[in-house]
Amino acid sequence: MVTDSPAVGGRATRRAFVIRALAGVGAALAAAVGVPIAGLAAAPAFRSSLRWPLQAGSVPPTPRATGWTSLGPVDGFQVGVPKLLPVTVPVEVQGATEWTPIAVYVLRPDADTVAILDIHCTHMGCPVGWSQGAKRFLCPCHGGAFTADGAREAGPPPRPMDRYRALVANQEIWMGPLIEPA
Ligand code: FES
Repeated sequence: MVTDSPAVGGRATRRAFVIRALAGVGAALAAAVGVPIAGLAAAPAFRSSLRWPLQAGSVPPTPRATGWTSLGPVDGFQVGVPKLLPVTVPVEVQGATEWTPIAVYVLRPDADTVAILDIHCTHMGCPVGWSQGAKRFLCPCHGGAFTADGAREAGPPPRPMDRYRALVANQEIWMGPLIEPA
């Protein structure tokens, strides 16, 4: 279902409460993994202005980048090991562009392929962590697990990890807008 405004009835109220509660959890976890707290703290404000096809028990990704941003030389990203990266992206807010700090995982499954994933679990928005031993993204909140390419594997997440558009140009990785989930 597509909603024009997330502020619709009791469901929105419940979701707003959950998002506020998880913002604190996200900030604590972010500090542990070195993600800028400012970016995560800003996320709920942007979530509240998003249009998104929501499923029960699911939250939209944060925030929706609206332009392209260089993430640096492709050689700075090791093949086969997702890299957690703080990045500042352009986000359209009420007709104005705001540069917003977020964090993403950058993947190079092989030398020719790049993917960029939102770090938030698609269940209730906790930041997921990459386990090099398990070769999985693991969510500390309710046991959600995603494969190395972000596919949902276990637990309550209703969809794969959200992705941003990605390309390589002149040996640099570029991150674009979020790809809306099907
Ligand atoms: Fe519930 Fe990730 S937030 S499993």
